[in-house]
Amino acid sequence: MIRRLVAALLFCGLAGVALAQQQVGWKTGREAAEIERKISALLKQMTLEEKVGQLHLSGRGEGFDIEQVRTGRMGAVMNFVVPQEIRQVQEAVRQSRLRIPLIIGLDAVHGFSTYFPLPLGQASSWNPALIEQAAYWTGREARAAGVNWTFAPMVDISRDPRWGRVLEGAGEDAHLASVIAAARTRGYQRGGVAATVKHFVGYGAAEGGRDYNSTWIPTSQLHDLFLPPFKASFDVGAMTAMAAFNALNGMPATAHRGMLTDLLRGQWGFRGFVTSDFGSITELRLHGIARDDAEAARKALLAGIDMDMMGDVYHKHLAGEVKAGRVPAKALDEAVRRVLRVKFHLGLFERPDVDVAAAPSLMQTEEARKVARQAAREGVILLKNERQVLPIAASVKSVAVIGAMAVPEDERVWTDPAGLGRRVVQPLPDALREQLPAGVEVTYQPAFSRNCGTEFKDKEAALKAAAAADLVVTMLGEDCEFMGEGASRTDLRLPGVQQELLEALVATGKPVVLVLATARPLVLGWADRHVAAIVQTFHGGTEGRAAIAEVLAGKVNPSGRTPMSFPRSVGQIPVYYDQLPTGRPQKIRQRYESIYMDEANEALYPFGFGLSYSRFAYADPRVTNARVPFDGATEVAVDVTNQGERDGQEVVQLYIRQPVAERSRPLRLLKGFEKVFLKAGETKTVRFRLEGRALGGHDDTGRYQLDPGIIEVYLGGSSLAAARTQFELVKR
Ligand code: BGC
Repeated sequence: MIRRLVAALLFCGLAGVALAQQQVGWKTGREAAEIERKISALLKQMTLEEKVGQLHLSGRGEGFDIEQVRTGRMGAVMNFVVPQEIRQVQEAVRQSRLRIPLIIGLDAVHGFSTYFPLPLGQASSWNPALIEQAAYWTGREARAAGVNWTFAPMVDISRDPRWGRVLEGAGEDAHLASVIAAARTRGYQRGGVAATVKHFVGYGAAEGGRDYNSTWIPTSQLHDLFLPPFKASFDVGAMTAMAAFNALNGMPATAHRGMLTDLLRGQWGFRGFVTSDFGSITELRLHGIARDDAEAARKALLAGIDMDMMGDVYHKHLAGEVKAGRVPAKALDEAVRRVLRVKFHLGLFERPDVDVAAAPSLMQTEEARKVARQAAREGVILLKNERQVLPIAASVKSVAVIGAMAVPEDERVWTDPAGLGRRVVQPLPDALREQLPAGVEVTYQPAFSRNCGTEFKDKEAALKAAAAADLVVTMLGEDCEFMGEGASRTDLRLPGVQQELLEALVATGKPVVLVLATARPLVLGWADRHVAAIVQTFHGGTEGRAAIAEVLAGKVNPSGRTPMSFPRSVGQIPVYYDQLPTGRPQKIRQRYESIYMDEANEALYPFGFGLSYSRFAYADPRVTNARVPFDGATEVAVDVTNQGERDGQEVVQLYIRQPVAERSRPLRLLKGFEKVFLKAGETKTVRFRLEGRALGGHDDTGRYQLDPGIIEVYLGGSSLAAARTQFELVKR
């Protein structure tokens, strides 16, 4: 026993050492000062071309010129994922005069070899510790392949599911998104890759949900809603940032000195570097603020963009701009210093090359897959469960799984790009066979020729299988071209012919469980009225379908909660929970109230919502301090009971409202949440600490303002939380 204990301690110790070496982040004190001296010394040795080279980020593929690496004209590369290839570029840089190591970037957004749910699906877990673990393993795997910089986390708030990139974010709320931004940043950097917090700033507010479109954001909202997740990320040490494609209030983010220099460096004290987005410097011409690439390069650099991603604009024009005196040499030096600073703090100068032989054994490890499974489980949101059709009852002897989405198709997305850890991802029918009692027959019909259901393959066979089963599980959603960057939609129904199939399945009279794998909240009104159960996932990754099977079979009690409101119709968008009050609130739904004639005001599924196989009750909400000074705090407590027959997890959410202040304040505002495990019948007291200074908002000049007055507090399992208490916020 003792021997085992000693061995365990020894193991932890060793793991600790390995972890400490793995972790990257800002060094402090003498070490940081020493780095600044090294940078100054290095800058003195560098030619103008070598300096510009440090700001030049080019990517694997056509046009990549390894000669630029050899001659010190390229300081950063991206999209290299195969360790042998990374080794080659590292060898090339060693042939350069000053041998400044490369920073090697990749969009390791929700996995490298092991895939975790899409970020929106991870956010649905409302479990920051788990989300941090997912980022950690993503970072570790990427790092093992030789990558040292990830273009993540994306922390753009969005309230518009028409925008294809909501899948990369954490939803609509500033508090949830900030907690998650910090967790992901910590995770990546613990795993050994520098994080890039992106896209600075306002990208998620693209007008009409159309990607790359302009954004118009009032100053108060910019500070209250869009900036906090960035700040949270920098506060835990994010080493780099990426500027956004969009124009913010008329100024392209890539040339926005107010944001990039005055706010980010000036007020926030950010010391890392900012990269442009893909080609966004040259796009300044198309935005109409530069006549040519030289002017675009100059404007971007002077605004605060240190690195040119895939634009080739700094590479071609910056030296000329400096020689002509249009860009001060000092401004160039500052940008180079910031890039070198990150490289030094990352430890790249001491790091050996990628270990090509070791890399494969570090992919898809048991631990990583365990985290992926747990993240997939906790990301499942049960939106509807009529007459407890789920979990699948013992009386069900046959299940028909319908829809090509049930079987993973897209190798590109779901297996690692380097092919290092390729393993079979379990299809849903197989996973169900494993989870359901022996003797339950599980059949499968794809119905469509592809996952996204754009056309039928064999509809009749699918309907026949459905009619022959006790229960139908149909897995539908968005895939292929319907998700991600550049995939904005105006119609948020199921794409292709999927709705037609769903209606035909319901018409068989069999109970239908709709499992969704989408990239955003869809408009689900018809499904909500007609199917027995709706299980929402945002593409669960490597372990996604296995986790869904566990939920359907009742091995796992669902605990996901919506990170975005689900609209009833596209016409409601933007629909979000923390609306301001109006002077004409909805009372009896009559004319001259703030309502729609043809649709309800409320979301179909509100923010923070999700069912469980248990029921949770809230009692005795209370505060320790009835009067809270601006610089004081109170504890808020509530007793939560699992009244169901199964153990389960509840996401306890705390919302505030200040009914009277100097400016209108939201009807509800999330200020805290905690995911708690409760055994059947168990009661736990959940406690939050609310600081007085966190209860204000920004005004139109960007000034933070606290107003004395009553603060109402609501506690519950969604943004409709009903248990209420209050306190008074006082000046002192
Ligand atoms: C995206 C970024 C991404 C970059 C590199 C751009 O199109 O907007 O988020 O990091 O490409 O792949």
